[in-house]
Amino acid sequence: MPPEPSDQPIVRARAVEHAYPGVAGASVPVLRGVSLDVRRGELLAVVGPSGSGKSTLLACLSGLETPLGGTVELEGVDLGGLSRQRSARFRRGRVGFVFQAYNLLPALTARENVALPARLARRTADRRTVDAALDAVGLLDVADRRPGSLSGGQQQRVAIARTLVSRPDVVFADEPTGALDTVAGARVLDLLRETATGGRAVVLVTHDLAAAARADRAVVLRDGTVHAELERPGVDALFAAVEHAAVRP
Ligand SMILES: Nc1ncnc2c1ncn2[C@@H]1O[C@H](COP(=O)(O)OP(=O)(O)O)[C@@H](O)[C@H]1O
Ligand SMILES: [Mg+2]
Repeated sequence: MPPEPSDQPIVRARAVEHAYPGVAGASVPVLRGVSLDVRRGELLAVVGPSGSGKSTLLACLSGLETPLGGTVELEGVDLGGLSRQRSARFRRGRVGFVFQAYNLLPALTARENVALPARLARRTADRRTVDAALDAVGLLDVADRRPGSLSGGQQQRVAIARTLVSRPDVVFADEPTGALDTVAGARVLDLLRETATGGRAVVLVTHDLAAAARADRAVVLRDGTVHAELERPGVDALFAAVEHAAVRP
């Protein structure tokens, strides 16, 4: 592959459309021509009313869903031009996820959960890399405990460590603080903020406008379209934009 110019976005989405099957075979449009770039080193927030298509957009940007229209390029490669298998291989290691539900395996310790992606990729997780990831999220001291004995905030930090251990270029986080109290949520947000440095980006879907205000940029969705795009958004500007997006004409 040719060397990448550093100003090339990690993700470039153009005119992305998606729909789900509705009643009586009708299809319900959810994304109606969304175009956006995810730039290197940025924390990009995606906000908007419930049902505006945030999670669907994240799934399309990350390759979890194949959009019905438009293009999504990851590192300059059009995912739509790849077979499912090739796309999955290309995305592996480049794309990471953090969900509201931490998706940890209860029978495994924190350390084993963090090492899991490498094991699934049939690589041995080197202990130093795994422990460095646990240390980065401040959980090395609970590495041998199982998720059930950890707080929600700690579990989410294990999930982030598990994502970071594969050194993805872009981390997609869908309501990662949705199940956490304010303090634990702030800590998770700090981590995502720190993750979005160098060449690595984080795309954060959240309904928490104080969280979104810590992003470098915010995209406000409304009915599956980009309603507004704010650079270095303040809470007040975000609130006004989301409120406006929620008002029906
Ligand atoms: N798997 C699915 N099947 C059918 N409809 C879906 C599915 N996922 C989402 N939807 C619908 O698409 C719309 C947008 O959903 P979503 O992307 O989850 O929005 P948001 O994350 O902004 O709340 C909603 O009306 C939702 O009911
Ligand atoms: Mg959602």
